[in-house]
Amino acid sequence: MIPAAYAVLNMAAVTHNMQKVREYAPNSKIMAVIKANAYGHGALRLAHFLEEEVDGFAVARGDEGIRLRISGVQKRIVVLEGFTCAEELDKLLVYQLDAVVHSFAQLTIFETIIEQEKIAVWLKLDTGMNRLGFKAAELQGVYSRLLNCFVIKHPINLMTHLANADDKSDAMTDKQIALFNDTLAKLTPKLGSDNERSIANSAGILAWQQSLTHWVRPGIMLYGISPFADATGEQLGLKPIMSLHSRLIAVKPIAKGDTVGYGGSWVCEQDTLLGVVAIGYADGYPRYASTGTPVLVNGQRVSLVGRVSMDMITVDLGVQSNAKAGDAVTLWGDGLPVEEIALRANTIPYTLVCGVTQRVRQIEAI
Ligand SMILES: Cc1ncc(COP(=O)(O)O)c(C=O)c1O
Repeated sequence: MIPAAYAVLNMAAVTHNMQKVREYAPNSKIMAVIKANAYGHGALRLAHFLEEEVDGFAVARGDEGIRLRISGVQKRIVVLEGFTCAEELDKLLVYQLDAVVHSFAQLTIFETIIEQEKIAVWLKLDTGMNRLGFKAAELQGVYSRLLNCFVIKHPINLMTHLANADDKSDAMTDKQIALFNDTLAKLTPKLGSDNERSIANSAGILAWQQSLTHWVRPGIMLYGISPFADATGEQLGLKPIMSLHSRLIAVKPIAKGDTVGYGGSWVCEQDTLLGVVAIGYADGYPRYASTGTPVLVNGQRVSLVGRVSMDMITVDLGVQSNAKAGDAVTLWGDGLPVEEIALRANTIPYTLVCGVTQRVRQIEAI
């Protein structure tokens, strides 16, 4: 049976997007960011597909990394949120996952642990994101203490995260990069080239050459999606991996003045044919997509009308339409960039691909 709602994953696009990362950052190692189930694309799928092509992976949490290790991933895996207690650190050691060190609480745990195994760490400097990381004034003290921790593998790696790199006119990115470089330059003992560094996310890779260093951390661009509000992935030369599909399950005439869906928020302005599509917010289609959001029915653009329900949406097919139950519907994909849908739903494309739920069958296209 054809699933009502399904996502097609174009695996050739993964290879293409990786190639783009390499073109932009030819001298950097690549840490593919596959947290949050590879932004909804399937972390194990992406990890195994990419393992030969990348130098490592990044995940947000320890359990995401453990799942990758258990599935046989051998490459370096960096846990971006690190750990919060000795038990979690112990798991990172057992599964040989790299920890990001961003808090004094973590430092204290390191100082109390004596293990045979050693852990590779990424010391995180907060250059302005004000989320995780140490302040510039704290870094020397933390670095010195880490050097004395028995459990830490040397050399120590260093990283920061860019807050506004998706805005090419924002001066903050240059300031963050300068603060990172200046603070690291002052550390004693002096860092060597084997103290590897990492700054750039996708926006950094695409727009801020100064942010390219030993390692880059592409996330969204790997999936063929733009980090910028003013361009689509395709306009940047990327290829979207995921497209989202469903089908019409009913077509019916409605008359001028009829209201459609919960709340009757859409009032039909002239007699038309309404299409009911088997996808809703329980599949991850955005609840806040507004009337007028484009949907492809048999490859033609029509408009979403009325509120998105849990399992269905409604579209205005137009009075002349020949569409019928069973016909193909694309919610985003070829000819309908996910970035456009995100704008219509007042969100960012990251949330759309991450939000596709388990009910949606994922089908790989080779
Ligand atoms: C620390 C860190 N590095 C890299 C990334 C990848 O970012 P992007 O998906 O914008 O490339 C993320 C994602 O949020 C992150 O949190």
